[in-house]
Amino acid sequence: MALREIRYREDEVLYKRCKEVVKFDEKLAILLDDMYETMQKANGVGLAAPQVGILKRAVVIDIGEGRIELINPEIIETSGSQNGSEGCLSFPGLFGEVERPNFVKVKAFDRNGKEFELEGEELLARAICHECDHLDGVVFTSHVTEYIDMDGE
Ligand code: CO
Repeated sequence: MALREIRYREDEVLYKRCKEVVKFDEKLAILLDDMYETMQKANGVGLAAPQVGILKRAVVIDIGEGRIELINPEIIETSGSQNGSEGCLSFPGLFGEVERPNFVKVKAFDRNGKEFELEGEELLARAICHECDHLDGVVFTSHVTEYIDMDGE
């Protein structure tokens, strides 16, 4: 595994729509392993491929309950809503209030190309929505209703 360079703020790669993954090969496996290592090193709970400069529909998530990999994810059901603080590894030090569904069901493929469904509530639902947004070139700042001052300045 290797660390990848995280792309920040105005980097144009963060604002582009990613392409579907069609090859579930060793290159994809390496990308996913590298993304996970990069996310963990940065103390994040989620990372999408465009955040390391790769315009492919692949995300990794770990909210402290183990590694989740979503390839070509599609949110197929949502319900409820939650408000909470959200941040992003591509926007260090920036936190804002974002409303998200409290429950989501997502359909995706694993690294071997096998389709599965995953349900998530609360933080996991938030992470799934945030990371899926990245694949469409949408960053969390476009949903922020109020920025949160974390340094107390
Ligand atoms: Co993010």
